[in-house]
Amino acid sequence: MSKFYITTPIYYVNDKPHIGHAYTTIVADALARYHRSLGEDVVFLTGTDENSQKTVDAANKLGEDPKIYIERLAGIWKSVWSELDISNTDFIRTTEDRHIKVVNEIWNRVVEAGDIYKGKYDGLYCRGHEAFMKESDLVDGLCPDHKTAPEHIIEENYFFKLSKYQKDILKFYEENPNFISPDARFNELKSFVEGGLEDISISREKQGWGIPVPGDSSHAIYVWFDALINYISGVGIEEWISHPADIHALGKDIIRFHGVIWPAMLMSAKLPLPKKLISNGFFTVDGVKISKSLGNAIDPIELKKKYGTDAIRYFLLREISYGKDGDFSYDKLHERYTADLANGLGNFASRVLAMGVALETIKKDVIGEDVSRAILDAKNGFKNWIEEVRFGDAISEIWKLIQFGDTYINTAKPWAEEDQEKKEKTIYNLVSILEEIALLVSPILPESAEKIKNCIENSAEGVRVKKIEPLFPRVG
Ligand code: MSP
Repeated sequence: MSKFYITTPIYYVNDKPHIGHAYTTIVADALARYHRSLGEDVVFLTGTDENSQKTVDAANKLGEDPKIYIERLAGIWKSVWSELDISNTDFIRTTEDRHIKVVNEIWNRVVEAGDIYKGKYDGLYCRGHEAFMKESDLVDGLCPDHKTAPEHIIEENYFFKLSKYQKDILKFYEENPNFISPDARFNELKSFVEGGLEDISISREKQGWGIPVPGDSSHAIYVWFDALINYISGVGIEEWISHPADIHALGKDIIRFHGVIWPAMLMSAKLPLPKKLISNGFFTVDGVKISKSLGNAIDPIELKKKYGTDAIRYFLLREISYGKDGDFSYDKLHERYTADLANGLGNFASRVLAMGVALETIKKDVIGEDVSRAILDAKNGFKNWIEEVRFGDAISEIWKLIQFGDTYINTAKPWAEEDQEKKEKTIYNLVSILEEIALLVSPILPESAEKIKNCIENSAEGVRVKKIEPLFPRVG
């Protein structure tokens, strides 16, 4: 069985998940489920990034012990993913021993390569980003994303010889022209690397939190150097060597870490590189950037209460063109819910199954030529688009098939058909369409697909169907 390994970023636990985090995770889940449907052995890793100073700040703010706080938050992240039907096969936490062990090993490999040296860091650090910044990155002296002034840090740090890998990285890009999707973002990154790479600081003077530098516990490993390694510690070094990640799904904000620093770390540690990075754009809510201070960070669980998990998954994957920035709006969600889900898929499933129930056992027959062509088109179209990570287009192919099914019903009018055999044939064709739709849509809408499949029972005598509860009940 061929393997497929996909990851999400590991998320900071300074807060609970919002709709933006859910988006990246749902994208990875849809791909994981799609590959599972091809019969591949899928490893799907997500987790939490817990060694960040932000975690301690968040715990302190609540007056909670950081250790207790991270346990609580890791639990929240896990349960939100399970509520959103995320089918991860593992959940890595960077405070786990299995992670710390691998981080130590990689650090030592990088030391052996002669790529770590001690130097003086004199510069700016933004806690929000957990990243070193340059004056030129600031707007009016503030980090443009976090609107806070970065700290000025002067300390002895360990540095990683990133500059040494500039040529190798560019060569790797050239040999792997599909390494990063979308192309536009790959091109941006190439120009960035062509502009020259500087060595980076990979430790901070230890302030009681974080993984100690091997052999020097007065320093903690820089949280990004530690966090990236989760992709290896989640499966083990041996497994990574034999099968590195097929896809790292992430947001455009962290592309440099994954597309430049991570490959260089792996080259230095003499480990294989991931095969592909896919990066989603950022979205706003009703046109406004998601921010804690504005209080517009939508809680996916609140949305689920109203619309259900499948509707959130559908909306995000269909409405936001993958890779581009997009906008989340309640109005658009409501519109899609009503038009595409309730009146589209939900209605088609109810109609077909209601007609099928009236027949008890439906005799198996040959599927009509036009029907098999429509099914084949949808299957091929879906496969092509999803493999290009174009979810909106992939989903459209399924909805074309639903439309075809609706037209088929309206033209054949099985309820008015007096010839029983003809009527049964029509209904058999319709059930076959519905079954195919359930199969195709399962990576996107796993719950609805399962409900439809549970209503269709195939046996040697024929097909028996059950009536279905409305898949997408009206919401006010
Ligand atoms: N801990 C690091 C990642 C380490 S991976 C080795 C981190 N965590 S994070 O909690 O800030 O999550 C960042 C990711 O969440 C983004 O890369 C993106 O995938 C997702 N998003 C967060 N806000 C988002 C939007 N508003 N829109 C779309 N995606 C968003 O960075």
